[in-house]
Amino acid sequence: MTPQFGPEFQRDLAELLAWRRDVRHFRSDPLEEGVVAELLETAQLAPSVGNSQPWRFVRIRSAQQREALAAHADAEIARAGAVMAEDRRSAYAALKLHGMREAPELIAVFCDDETPIGGRLGAATMPETRGFSVVLAIHTLWLAARARGLGLGWVSVVEPGYVSTLLDVPQDWRLIALLCLGHPLEPDHVPELERRGWQARLDWRAQVSER
Ligand SMILES: Cc1cc2nc3c(=O)[nH]c(=O)nc-3n(C[C@H](O)[C@H](O)[C@H](O)COP(=O)(O)O)c2cc1C
Repeated sequence: MTPQFGPEFQRDLAELLAWRRDVRHFRSDPLEEGVVAELLETAQLAPSVGNSQPWRFVRIRSAQQREALAAHADAEIARAGAVMAEDRRSAYAALKLHGMREAPELIAVFCDDETPIGGRLGAATMPETRGFSVVLAIHTLWLAARARGLGLGWVSVVEPGYVSTLLDVPQDWRLIALLCLGHPLEPDHVPELERRGWQARLDWRAQVSER
């Protein structure tokens, strides 16, 4: 039977969306293997151009690779800080932009730009839609994680070539994200960048126009 999503579910969904956070502070206790598998299975429900399902998830198990990624991100963060507008430099230096050392699960997500799955439908006209599809899979995983009380942190302060070489992935795979996953230290309803006075959410009406 087709499920009916009533007002109670709609309220819960709105709460879930409002409480989805990008998390950088994690408890270190491990996640159950079954939970991670369930989340990856849920991510597979995402839409994709031509049903090409171009997402490739690489679970990083090696402590050395994890530390290499964290150190690399730290260096990139420092590099970006050096060219940051002067009035923002000290606020920027105080931000925490990844939890790769603490999060119990670290996942690199790639887009397989050359996958033949889906007969290349859509890829000739807008090849970038493959990457969009991967982002949707990440968002699906993000919400599913939050629904289980877990936090996800998207790390993009890395040089994609460095990550691909370190993880030795196929040449056609393009890095989309590094994801930290685990129990958030303190769940919050306001984005961390807003709480730290860096950038608040805008009024949605400012983002909508008519022609
Ligand atoms: C494509 C993308 C890249 C991001 N990269 C980073 C990052 O490298 N480090 C970080 O701390 N947060 C990163 N974020 C998280 C954003 O800072 C966060 O989504 C935003 O501040 C709003 O907060 P919220 O997700 O808690 O609502 C990224 C988010 C997206 C969608």
